[in-house]
Amino acid sequence: MAIEVAIIGGTGVYDPRLFSDLRDELLENEYGTTSVKIGLYKGKEIAFLNRHGAGHSVPPHLVNYRANIKALKDLGVQRIFATAAVGSLKQEFPPGAFVLVDQFLDFTKQRESTFFTGGEKGVIHIDMTEPYCPHLREIIAQAASRKGIEIAKGGVYVCTEGPRFETPAEIRMYRSLGGDLVGMTSVPEVVLAREAEICYATIAMVTNFAAGISPTPLTHTEVLETMAQNASKLQTLLLEVMDN
Ligand code: HPA
Repeated sequence: MAIEVAIIGGTGVYDPRLFSDLRDELLENEYGTTSVKIGLYKGKEIAFLNRHGAGHSVPPHLVNYRANIKALKDLGVQRIFATAAVGSLKQEFPPGAFVLVDQFLDFTKQRESTFFTGGEKGVIHIDMTEPYCPHLREIIAQAASRKGIEIAKGGVYVCTEGPRFETPAEIRMYRSLGGDLVGMTSVPEVVLAREAEICYATIAMVTNFAAGISPTPLTHTEVLETMAQNASKLQTLLLEVMDN
């Protein structure tokens, strides 16, 4: 039976208690090898992909996004709920806030960001008017409302190459360009999902104010700590979403 739903877990999200009968599968394709956990939730098989690999060992600029999305496509996945830890460019999105990303600004530099590499793969220019699936966003918004979890219904995700954090000057520039959130992973993940014709939505969780807005220098520890503090809220939301 095909697995229709996948969760791509960003920093600090995975919790095995979400599923029963968990098994690990190594999936190989022309882009590489991806490890996916498959588990049962209320009788349905769900795939869980840990974006940064076991023990958070793969940095954002080295994630094999193409292998990951192709692996989910091969499983039969039609809907991806992704989570992402982000920095905030706006006072109205303080640490702990959830945001449904609806647009992105791409500042990545050296990533394999398409399946359509010409030749036999074809020259295809994919539409990006709605990069994040409006239908899945609505499902998440309704699930959040049922659980009394606040989630903002739109936000522009600035994707940087990383793995370094940004300079305050960069953050001022991103803000003046219309960015709301900053992270290092949504592009090309969302683009590849669109190319693979998989509905894709991202729940962003603010872990910090971005550089220059935050009163203190940023550390990965701070990101992990805020994730940990809010992980149970995120899990509650994901489980409610899975009930659809
Ligand atoms: N910048 C980039 N990526 C991030 C941040 C940030 O401030 N916080 C969490 N991921």
